[in-house]
Amino acid sequence: MIRLEHITKTFQTKETNLHAVNDVSLTIDQGNIFGIIGFSGAGKSTLVRCINLLEVPSKGKVWIRNTNLLELSEEELRKERQKMGMIFQHFNLLAQRTVLDNVTFPLEITGKKKAQAREKARELLKLVGLGDKESSYPAQLSGGQKQRVAIARALATDPDILLCDEATSALDPITTSNILALLKEINEKLGLTIVIITHQMEVVKQICHKVAIMEEGKVVEEGLVSQVFTTPKSEVTKKLLLTEGEEK
Ligand SMILES: Nc1ncnc2c1ncn2[C@@H]1O[C@H](COP(=O)(O)OP(=O)(O)OP(=O)(O)O)[C@@H](O)[C@H]1O
Ligand SMILES: [Mg+2]
Repeated sequence: MIRLEHITKTFQTKETNLHAVNDVSLTIDQGNIFGIIGFSGAGKSTLVRCINLLEVPSKGKVWIRNTNLLELSEEELRKERQKMGMIFQHFNLLAQRTVLDNVTFPLEITGKKKAQAREKARELLKLVGLGDKESSYPAQLSGGQKQRVAIARALATDPDILLCDEATSALDPITTSNILALLKEINEKLGLTIVIITHQMEVVKQICHKVAIMEEGKVVEEGLVSQVFTTPKSEVTKKLLLTEGEEK
């Protein structure tokens, strides 16, 4: 579903060139929940933003379903992007719009008729367990509810990939667990491929099939979660396992 080939992203700063992502190659299978974990500054967000070209890689290829995104025209890229949803740590909801209108927003952009957009949004709000909140405004919701709205919005255009960047980092442990259970349900029900960026070990343990560990722009270790966590090879992985739970 997703194949990153020798991705490098270099940021030019005044003094130096910073390789935020440094020659990363990864394959993520369809229907998988794939975790990318590492300490702050490891390059996780930059890497995930390279998947939908929010960040254009300095080098390498981004294959989505056998299409190299870097070779597409703007119009073609726009279409490919509609098949990728993204959710963030701080939800990024539109404060001026109701819950329902937040979820219809991406559909308005694609030119869908209002009635159809609303029908779809209601269906998704039900899926994420917020059927009764459509007229509320984001400020009236809890963090977990806001993230549910963000998930519904990310699913509005029927994507087959969902990118999550620290989607549970602002939530308490129980709410985190509920959101992860929801993501797992969506993965199973809709067959979505999910990429989860996190610095929380327990997130990976709860729902990921495979995991890649990043350090200084590189993937230092990857494999099945069960394998990587029982026999960690790299020092970073061992450190991540040690710090588990400390942040709560
Ligand atoms: N637009 C930018 N310009 C310059 N440097 C950047 C830019 N974006 C990211 N970086 C640098 O790239 C490195 C990787 O950043 P990135 O945000 O990908 O890390 P991260 O693993 O997501 O960290 P965190 O866990 O804190 O979110 C950092 O050193 C950061 O300062
Ligand atoms: Mg980040």
